[in-house]
Amino acid sequence: MKTFPQTFLWGGATAANQIEGAYLEDGKGLSTSDVQPQGVFGDVVERVPGDSGIKDIAIDFYHRYPEDISLFAEMGFNCLRVSIAWTRIFPNGDDATPNEAGLAYYDKLFDEMAKYNITPLVTLSHYEMPWALVKNYGGWGNRKVIGFFERYARTVFERYQSKVKLWLTFNEINMSLHAPMTGVGLPADSSKAQVYQAIHHQLVASALAVKACHDIVAEGKIGNMLLGGLMYPLSCKPEDVFKTLQENRSWQFFGDVQCRGAYPGYILRYFRESGFTLEITDADREALKSTVDFISFSYYMTGCVTADEALNQKARGNILNMVPNPHLASSEWGWQIDPLGLRTLLNVLWDRYQKPLFIVENGLGAKDKVEADGSINDDYRISYLNDHLVQAREAIADGVELMGFTSWGPIDLVSASKAELSKRYGFIYVDRNDDGSGTLARSKKKSFGWYKEVIATRGASLKE
Ligand code: BG6
Repeated sequence: MKTFPQTFLWGGATAANQIEGAYLEDGKGLSTSDVQPQGVFGDVVERVPGDSGIKDIAIDFYHRYPEDISLFAEMGFNCLRVSIAWTRIFPNGDDATPNEAGLAYYDKLFDEMAKYNITPLVTLSHYEMPWALVKNYGGWGNRKVIGFFERYARTVFERYQSKVKLWLTFNEINMSLHAPMTGVGLPADSSKAQVYQAIHHQLVASALAVKACHDIVAEGKIGNMLLGGLMYPLSCKPEDVFKTLQENRSWQFFGDVQCRGAYPGYILRYFRESGFTLEITDADREALKSTVDFISFSYYMTGCVTADEALNQKARGNILNMVPNPHLASSEWGWQIDPLGLRTLLNVLWDRYQKPLFIVENGLGAKDKVEADGSINDDYRISYLNDHLVQAREAIADGVELMGFTSWGPIDLVSASKAELSKRYGFIYVDRNDDGSGTLARSKKKSFGWYKEVIATRGASLKE
């Protein structure tokens, strides 16, 4: 089988805070992303009138979406992943009524996509929440936030039920342990017990959103979203293998709860032995039983795990607890490139859950060079995506049910980890630099034509 299925969804993935800009326009409130100008691991900086950050304008998608969507359509996209900024709908999170201007904006956006038969895949919360909920309630550490989120979810399901059928709850829900402010609105120095309690509230909210989607959106499907952090043992030493199992479970447990409807025994043991006494009510346990329809995930790299503490110490500083794989090359940002790992991960997730899978992020962040004639020859990006898509196709042949592929950043956008524009992922170049200079003009890179052909041939043009 050399082509992807007829029904396969092809497209790109974005997030509101990384593309829209217009950070205070039409009644929008401040989000956690707005107060983290240095990115998801950066410090919180209170905004003062007149200050500015790169995300305030981002790539100005808020105003330029018609042009961008027409370019996506030209590539043949039949799917586009976007997120709704919660703060456009409920600027403070606890407002009595939703902000009509915010709701109207996404109506226009979804209508524009409909013109080209592009199916929206909408993330309810992509790495941001109303800053006012953090300041006034303590973020997801406060159980009340579950209710505010459920109200927001129900509001957008009601409003867009005829326009949006595919939904995701929380982006990379398993990142909260590494970026507590971004994930759950908690300060970076929060204890693990506090973070797990906040995560619990978010898992309950995710399940309530699943139920709400099923209640409201006819033929709606809703998935979770995991950072696909596949780890390999650095050696075949049983200690390394067991530690790898534990490391993988530290992120897989989110999926276990969202797909199976209850906490698995290994995480309950971990809580017990760590002395974490989480408040989990009977109503919470009942709510968690609403499980997702499909599993979506991001995939960029793999890493290795060792039980050797000396080696671990040397490798510290990575996002996840991993040491580099001596067999893999890395991107300019040190992310290890492993296309076969994507096939492994797809099979692991399929074997574990037997629910449809969706790759909702994959791509190469790289510095691009604009030639004198304006062309951008991003062969490195083409080769990265080609090799990952080949492995996704292999996984389908293995029997994995794969719904689609939305490459991360089909248009250059602000990177999440360090809020840089120089880390580019797009098929479409945006003339804007880290210092904010540039015209914001869009131009096509070499990969634009390449992806267009991949989609047109349903993958037959990929090189093995
Ligand atoms: C994922 C996020 O972690 O990776 C995206 O869901 C993010 O928001 C992407 O942009 C790539 O990371 P970065 O830091 O290169 O932008």
